[in-house]
Formats: sequence, structure tokens, C-alpha cells
Amino acid sequence: MAGAYERRTRESARLFARARKVFAGGVNHNARFYEPYPIFVRRAEGSKVWDEDGNAYTDYWMGHMALILGHSPEVVVAALASQLSHGTHYGMPSRLSVELGEEVSRSVPCAEMTRFCNTGAEATMYLVRLARAYTRKRVVVKMAGGWHGYNTELNKGVHSPFDRAESAGIVADEQAHVLTARFNDLASAEDAVRRAEGDAAAILLEPVLGAGGCIPADSDYLRGLRELADRKSIVLAFDEVITGFRVALGGAQEMYGVEPDLATLGKIVGGGLPIGLVCGGREIVSLADPARRRDFVSIGGGTFSENPMTMTAGLATLRYLRRNAGSVYPRLERMGGKLRRGVDAEFSARGVQTFTSGVGSLFLTHFGRKPRNAEEAAAEDKEASHSYALHLMSRGAFLLPGHAGGVSTAHSESDIDTLVRLSGEFADGRRKKEDGDAGPRRSRASHPRRTS
Ligand SMILES: Cc1ncc(COP(=O)(O)O)c(C=O)c1O
Repeated sequence: MAGAYERRTRESARLFARARKVFAGGVNHNARFYEPYPIFVRRAEGSKVWDEDGNAYTDYWMGHMALILGHSPEVVVAALASQLSHGTHYGMPSRLSVELGEEVSRSVPCAEMTRFCNTGAEATMYLVRLARAYTRKRVVVKMAGGWHGYNTELNKGVHSPFDRAESAGIVADEQAHVLTARFNDLASAEDAVRRAEGDAAAILLEPVLGAGGCIPADSDYLRGLRELADRKSIVLAFDEVITGFRVALGGAQEMYGVEPDLATLGKIVGGGLPIGLVCGGREIVSLADPARRRDFVSIGGGTFSENPMTMTAGLATLRYLRRNAGSVYPRLERMGGKLRRGVDAEFSARGVQTFTSGVGSLFLTHFGRKPRNAEEAAAEDKEASHSYALHLMSRGAFLLPGHAGGVSTAHSESDIDTLVRLSGEFADGRRKKEDGDAGPRRSRASHPRRTS
């Protein structure tokens, strides 16, 4: 018998059946696949998306957390509408990209210089190349659970058991110079640097572990990594594709007061259009200057890099954020905190152990105890997390199963109140089901592997 989700999403089911014929698994990003099938979106505005069956959802996934101003914010739509009549793609430099580059430098502490590309995956690939060329060393130390996009070398140790390639088709040689350390554990990073035997070029991490469980780093840990990197002449690199312009205008590096040598950003910087960027100190990033005769680091291809539509949407977004930073970030922090505390209180009142992790506007409800790293996050009850997301979707709130969410400026207090209430309702439903069940439950749901 069809459940509540299937009953209200019949057109999505039909589209999924068609999609499976033309796309492997019916999707074009693995994270978008979940059982029984994803909803297919027709329209989005503010905090809401509407699916092909006409159902409205308050969206907490927000385009992989790229949409800090919500869907189709007026300030971005108006700028894009005016840019449309000036051209959608130049393949040549423009004033727009200079202004967006300046905007990034103005806000992000480490960003003396920047290179734009189209995705976060490209940006992290460029970052690794710059760090290796600068240090003349090879090994990248990344964190277990660290997700840096579909970049071959860094597709290692993202999911449990955290010690291998994430995909068939990647040969071990391609990841021979990537070592994995435990997040929030300085001794583990020191050990990885020791194992690199003087060949460590970079320590690369997300200051708030994203796909690995939406877990903020401890301040002491980040400071310890900074000291370790300085002591051993290693590049400290932050992947701020999620945290950039989200946890503060200057990203996690501003929030923690720890400046990396290099950083990657993406998502929010594109204002809802595709982008990635690598930035950092002049001494390192200028190695990518094509006029250099020696030691030129060849990064920055991309037919669509610095395309004027993305630059326009990004400029409108970043300017809005800078002008309104004094109100936007405190509000997001307050709403995020209310959501995290509210959801956990609903579960706790019904005897269900959860911990909603995150910082600022980011959140992820773990069905288990507070995790400090990806290993601990992986041990939680995945079946509960999947059922929770489906319950929310069946009642008009969208969270991608097992993934973090992000509150935007378009969300209202009542959006948050509704999510909190639905969480309590889910806990009630589970208790009833458990009371009625004989023996342990077995889940048939397959759980998507978390990426962002
Ligand atoms: C921390 C982090 N780095 C890199 C990426 C890759 O970005 P993209 O999906 O634009 O390639 C992501 C994507 O979610 C991410 O969360």
C-alpha cells in the first residue's frame, strides 16, 4: 500500500520512471537520489518549492545550501533580468568579474587573490595544485568525512569506513598522495603529517564538516592545525564551499579567527548560479599567472568561468549580504539556534535521543548522541533519519534525507515553528509504531551517501 509520500507525489513518481530511462539512477547528482524516489520541482520562490503534483514545501535544502537569500530573491532576479539583455556568456573578462573578485577580497580574510571556476570540485582540484607547487611537496592531509566535490584525488575517506576510494574506477595511484585524519583530533592530523615523512603539502578541511555530519570544528583544534602547518611549512587550506558567506560574511575563517593560506568557496558566491573559486595569499595564488615563465601553475580553464550571469547574481547577493550583514547574520544565527534547540526539545520530551548539530543557519538532526567527527556521526540511526525526512516531506517541509539543511533569510519564524512541531509529530508516530511492533524492525530503505 502506498504511504503518505507516494500518495501525494504521483506525478513525481511518473517523472522518476522516465528519468531512470535516461539518467543512471534517475538523477544527475547522487545526493538527490533517495527512496522511494525524489520529488520533481516545478517552481521555487522565497522559502518554498512546489512539486509537479502542486504540493508546496518549505525548503530547508535550499539548492545544496547555496541559496542564503531564499529562492529567486528580488535583488538577484532584477539584476539577472537586466544582464540578460547584455549577454549571457562572453568567454572574455568583464567589469562584473573584477567587481565580484573585489567583493570576495573585501569580505574573506585570506582572499588577497581569487580565481573563479564553475564548481567547488574544480576549486578544490586547483587548490591542491597550488599548494603542491608552492610547497614543492605532494601529500594532502584531508579529514575523514571531508567532502570536497567529485574531484578524483579527494574522493577518498568521505564515507564509512573512511579509508578508501569512494568509487569504482578510481585507481589507488590517483590517491597515493592523500592521507586521511580524524576531524576535531589534532593528534590524528599530527600523525598523518608524520606519516607523510616531510612530504605534506597541505592540510585541507571544512571548518564545519558538512557531508560528514554538519559538525563545527573546535576552535582549539583549528588553532592547533594553524600552528602545525606553520611549524612544518604546510599550507593550511579551508574548504569553505558551504561556510563561505554563510556562517559569517567572511566565512568560518572570520567566525573562528583562524586564517588559512588558501580557501575554496562556491555555492552562495554564485547567487544561485554555478560557481567555485580558490582564493588565498598573493604569494601562492599568483603562481597561476599565465605570464609567469617559471613554476606556472596551470589552473583556471572552464568555458563558462566568470560568466556574466553568475557574476551578476553573485554580485547582487554578496553586496546585499555586506550591506545587511549586521542584521542578516544575527537573524540567521537566532533562527538556526531556535530550530536546533526546538527540534531536540521535541524529541527529548518523547524520550528519543537526538542531537541537532550545526552553527549559524546550518543544522542536521542526528538520531543518536552528539557527534564530534564523521565516524561518530556514521554510527547514528540512519533509518530514523530517512523516515524523519520522508515524514517532513509528506507534511510540506523539505529536507534531503540524511543531509544538513540551511535556514535562509526568506524563512519566517512560523516556518521554524512548523518544522519543530512536525518533529514532535514524527516522534509521536514512531513511538506508536514501536509500541505496536513485535520484535525489532528491519529497514528496507537504502540510504543515500551523504554529499552536499
Ligand atoms: C565542502 C564542499 N566542498 C566542495 C563541494 C563541491 O562543490 P560542487 O558541488 O559545486 O562541485 C561541496 C559540495 O557540496 C562541498 O560541500
